[in-house]
Amino acid sequence: MSTVVGLTGVTKEYPGGVSALRGVDLTVEEGELLGIVGPSGSGKSTLLHIIGTLDRPTAGSVHIAGHDVAKLSDRRLSALRAQHVGFVFQAFHLVPGVSARDNVAEGLLYSGLSRTVRRRRAAAALERVGLADRLDHRPHQLSGGQKQRVAIARAVVGEPALLLADEPTGALDSASGAAVMELLRDLNQEGATIAVITHDTEIAGRLPREVRIRDGEVVADTGNAVSPHGVGAAR
Ligand SMILES: Nc1ncnc2c1ncn2[C@@H]1O[C@H](COP(=O)(O)OP(=O)(O)OP(=O)(O)O)[C@@H](O)[C@H]1O
Ligand SMILES: [Mg+2]
Repeated sequence: MSTVVGLTGVTKEYPGGVSALRGVDLTVEEGELLGIVGPSGSGKSTLLHIIGTLDRPTAGSVHIAGHDVAKLSDRRLSALRAQHVGFVFQAFHLVPGVSARDNVAEGLLYSGLSRTVRRRRAAAALERVGLADRLDHRPHQLSGGQKQRVAIARAVVGEPALLLADEPTGALDSASGAAVMELLRDLNQEGATIAVITHDTEIAGRLPREVRIRDGEVVADTGNAVSPHGVGAAR
């Protein structure tokens, strides 16, 4: 068991004087599946971006897979991200006019793998999310739930240690949303560490761990029982 995410005293100030995060401590161990919940504007996306090293904190420390993010150049950080982190964005972020398969293969662009291998793995990832029969469909030919599954396939095609999903069910009806959550559970069972932002308290309540954020602070954390340090649980 190892620590995948370690945040200590993380703050984030945006220009204009918004304190989006105010002293967040959070530890996530390998193999966890946690929900991040909180009102609109409470800092959830900011937190996910910092965990995913898309953004740096104003103060505090961020360790991802044992690396101190502050000590890495932007270039090393991109490499770390490409190797360890998968993102599922709320708005899908699929490339229009490009097949599902090539959208997923793009998740391996910086992997050093040949185009043939990238496309083969993309097909396997799409099969994994139940879209084996939609490889050549372009985004406008897919339903909302299918687009979300393509986005998930793209995020997991590189087998990242850490999967971060920002409202993956936000744009979906409840049946498609439930299917996406089931998929995330399966991926977690297969070993991925997953953090999911959701404003759906029902979804969050069914996850093994729930971290609640308000005004940039963690106000409740049902805890990572598997933590050997017991850090996450206490805060
Ligand atoms: N780039 C930015 N510049 C300035 N302020 C920002 C920026 N991004 C976010 N904020 C502010 O930081 C706060 C936290 O934003 P964040 O996007 O993390 O909230 P959230 O919890 O994800 O909300 P939602 O549920 O609506 O997505 C908000 O008050 C927001 O207005
Ligand atoms: Mg958000």
